[in-house]
Amino acid sequence: MTKLVTIDRHIIDQERLHPGASGRFSSLLYDVALAAKIISREVNMAGLIEDIMGKTGDTNVQGEEVQRLDDYAQEVMIKAMDHSGHLCCMVSEECEDIIPIPEKFKKGKYVLLFDPLDGSSNIDVNVSIGTIFSVHRKVSPGEDGTLDDCLQAGRKQLAAGYVVYGSSTMLVYTTEYGGVHGFTLDPSIGEFLLSHPDIRIPDPPSKTYSVNEAYFSRWSRGQQQFVEQLRGTANEPGLGFRSRYIGSLVSDFHRTLLTGGIFMYPRDRTSPEGKLRLLYEAAPLAMICEAAGGRASDGDRDILDLVPEGLHARTPLYLGSSDLVSMAEAALKAG
Ligand code: AHG
Ligand code: MN
Ligand code: MN
Repeated sequence: MTKLVTIDRHIIDQERLHPGASGRFSSLLYDVALAAKIISREVNMAGLIEDIMGKTGDTNVQGEEVQRLDDYAQEVMIKAMDHSGHLCCMVSEECEDIIPIPEKFKKGKYVLLFDPLDGSSNIDVNVSIGTIFSVHRKVSPGEDGTLDDCLQAGRKQLAAGYVVYGSSTMLVYTTEYGGVHGFTLDPSIGEFLLSHPDIRIPDPPSKTYSVNEAYFSRWSRGQQQFVEQLRGTANEPGLGFRSRYIGSLVSDFHRTLLTGGIFMYPRDRTSPEGKLRLLYEAAPLAMICEAAGGRASDGDRDILDLVPEGLHARTPLYLGSSDLVSMAEAALKAG
């Protein structure tokens, strides 16, 4: 058996490696891990618990139908994080505006931005879903979080991570000190144990691409030609890639991180900015992808260099093995 390293122990060890690291971030990560355990328990029981599946009947700021588990995960994240004393505000996919820290709680120097439940359309059919989070430092004066503290380029993130509620529950994170580390939840002891230290995107990558090809006819010619180059056409053999698309960004990215390949959510005629959100989907996964040796682009620029214009700004997204992301950018330019 390899040595047992809990996420708490790992965070402390990482802190020791980087004297500049502040303990404040570490306790933030503990709280996120706690929230992940609670959401995982609910997700894994979803089929058995009255009224946790299905839709709430509401529509969120994204114009999407809200699943009960979206609301639940959102509440758990807020209740686990709002009294930590480390945050000046929060941003959630499910809330139109900044989530302030209640007056009764101490405020801190960090901003937490998150997608409480990613892949909601997969909840009721028992397909993997996830949670994505991003941490920024407060940059504006005063103790309350402002838009300036939230609308920062991904390159400025202090840390980023995701939880995937799959055949096992895993938490994967990186910090400004680099390194991507994966922990698997042992539900029998309620601990996240280090299972994937120092994740690097494999090179050469697996020949896998991930995109929703139902939108093929809406794509630019360059995007269509790139996918045809990967999978071939009736007349051309192409590069012999296979397709894998789960429809949960966290799961499609997690597979891409561990095996290599490319995940794409392109812009198209009906969604000129793409569908995925920059602040709490693209930017945190981009930080992890680059830290693991990959690339993350909007098809033209690095995701981490984009400055968001709004809390729910969307972006086209190309994530994965560097060479494949660069090939996609070249195909889009030539198209
Ligand atoms: P969310 O459930 O947080 O709204 O995210 C859903 C996203 C993402 O998880 C996934 O990659 C994408 O929606 C799938 O979109 P399509 O169904 O258009 O392919
Ligand atoms: Mn999402
Ligand atoms: Mn979501």
